[in-house]
Amino acid sequence: MSKLLIKNIKGLVQADRSTLTYKKGKQMDELPIIENAFLAIEDNEILAFGTMEEWGGITDWRDLEVIDADGKYVLPTFCDSHTHAVFATTREEEFVDRIKGLSYEEIALKGGGILNSARKLQQMSEDELFEGAKERLYQLAKYGTGAFEIKSGYGLSVEGELKMLRVIKRLKETTPFAIKATFLGAHAFPTEYKSNHEGYIDLILNEMLPAIESEKLADYIDCFCERNYFSVEEMEKLLNAGQSIGLIPKVHVNQFSVMGGIASAVKFNARSVDHLEELADEDVKVLKGTNCIPTLLPGCSFFLGIPYGQARKLIENDLPVALASDFNPGSAPSGNMQFVNSLGCTKLKMTPNEAINATTINTAFAMGIEKTHGSISLGKSASIMLTSSLNSLAQIHYSFGENNVERVWVNGVEI
Ligand code: NIG
Ligand code: FE
Repeated sequence: MSKLLIKNIKGLVQADRSTLTYKKGKQMDELPIIENAFLAIEDNEILAFGTMEEWGGITDWRDLEVIDADGKYVLPTFCDSHTHAVFATTREEEFVDRIKGLSYEEIALKGGGILNSARKLQQMSEDELFEGAKERLYQLAKYGTGAFEIKSGYGLSVEGELKMLRVIKRLKETTPFAIKATFLGAHAFPTEYKSNHEGYIDLILNEMLPAIESEKLADYIDCFCERNYFSVEEMEKLLNAGQSIGLIPKVHVNQFSVMGGIASAVKFNARSVDHLEELADEDVKVLKGTNCIPTLLPGCSFFLGIPYGQARKLIENDLPVALASDFNPGSAPSGNMQFVNSLGCTKLKMTPNEAINATTINTAFAMGIEKTHGSISLGKSASIMLTSSLNSLAQIHYSFGENNVERVWVNGVEI
């Protein structure tokens, strides 16, 4: 048994005794913080928390580590509800092409982009992919992430997609992180199916999905619904088939254009709609009254120089906002959720409180782990971070690019 007591915490953030599963509209600016607090953890669970006055003292000192957090904050770890963390290698060559003037879409039309990553992934063994991804997750945990949704989508063949999903399954089984797997076979049409869309969709329906079902390789199904990628009609065919084997939709929509993908995803009870750099009034309307979480990816806007998602518009319309990293080698090579928090404030004009909610409780809901993650609550997973000494919580958002996190525990295990 291992026990940890953190005392004299300047602020215990997201210490939540409510039953809210996510926050929307005005609630997003409400962030429960207990000042001068303690937090007790036993093994992988949050055992007790409260003010120092409420603390009853130590009765059993055996196997107990005590940390004095004077001047420091404790938060639940970030949940990153949208990543492509399994990939072969980085793509700096495209980065340089973009600096010289090509757009992300132009590079993709030349056979770069997702297809470039798919070619590279083909050459790699499952073991190599696993080691690379595992290393990345542990690096990101140092910045405070304790949960990752991870997508396939660089395989684009039966063998390649299954290879990626098996890697994600191994990450689930062998690391302390909370991980959800999303099948994104519909990330791009492979070159050989460029003018045979139906053929590729049939391959997904008839070969990929049955294998995924029998090996239990995925929790969610995704589709890149976008001009030059998958149409709304094609997406619906895929979501329908995914749902019939128990996969919940969680989709890429409205990155470059408004095509009606949000309305369609909502119809299929999507857990989240992600990107939304482009957003029409109609999209906002169809999201109202649903539990579908609009998820913005400001790191992608930052890196590609495309518009930022309209967080204020969503919040003013009483909707929730989640912020995730989109960590991937093409459009968002950083998975640093502290930086995502900063961008939420500087570019999306969210308050620090809203950004914290958007990267903890709301992303936990967006990846379906709200019962165990996203807040400091009794019985939830001991996935927490201890900051360095900070003047205020907003220093995390203010001092962009810096790592303000000193120590991280993921499901009770110190990283
Ligand atoms: O979310 N837009 C689609 N997929 C990824 C980018 C993938 C890539 O370029 O490798 C995204 O931005
Ligand atoms: Fe993405």
